[in-house]
Amino acid sequence: MRKKIVAANWKMNLTLEEGKTLVDNIIAGQPALSATKKIVIASPYVHLTQTAAQLNGKDNIHVGAQNCYSEASGAYTGEISAGMLKSAGVEYVIIGHSERREYFNETNTMLVKKTDQALNNGLEVIFCCGEPLAIRDADTQNTYVEKQIKEGLFHLSNEQLKHVVIAYEPIWAIGTGRTASSQQAQDMHNHIRNVIAAQYGQDAASYLTILYGGSCKPSNAAELFACPDVDGGLIGGASLKADEFLGIVSAMSN
Ligand code: 13P
Repeated sequence: MRKKIVAANWKMNLTLEEGKTLVDNIIAGQPALSATKKIVIASPYVHLTQTAAQLNGKDNIHVGAQNCYSEASGAYTGEISAGMLKSAGVEYVIIGHSERREYFNETNTMLVKKTDQALNNGLEVIFCCGEPLAIRDADTQNTYVEKQIKEGLFHLSNEQLKHVVIAYEPIWAIGTGRTASSQQAQDMHNHIRNVIAAQYGQDAASYLTILYGGSCKPSNAAELFACPDVDGGLIGGASLKADEFLGIVSAMSN
């Protein structure tokens, strides 16, 4: 049975103290989750050891990073390797977020290397894809996202793909308050699952967790998560407040 996940992406927000309080409040308010339902908290690099210590020994709630570097080690001033993340207690890593693709010029070639680094170091990958508004307006989003997935993930084996979650985040919905409709989300998630099925087979596609991201809130999460191919969410703004984030977690747990 495939996993359902609600993942928090804090992006570049919160001091260590604020992050500690937020995690404490999430732990305190977290509903009981069955074994296939999980929470991931992707905090900034400097928070990771603290977040990992707070979540240590807790069931179904995991620590994630928001990025890693494409090389294993060496003279790359300011970068963080997947091996370092693993040693800090990190379990998941977000790869290819649209903000990294746009502001840090991350190409599909770099994302292949980052994904390989993450998987080689025993991390679970949350691989992001999603189209800009102009592509949605031209109604070519299916081809656009398919290309991102083929170029970013199709070098992986079936065994490796089991450690990958895909997050569909239409760029026009990120931080804009403009959520994709549940029909738009379902249509794209179904397309992604078909793309994976064609390459890896139906079993692999059925096992794959596909998250929706983009202005997901407690008020729209239940409708989005009720779609058959939407297996949870990757949450930005609403993950910075415990009550809002837990409202979205409840939509998964019902
Ligand atoms: P928002 O939830 O703030 O729209 O951000 C979504 C996102 O980018 C999560 O990675």
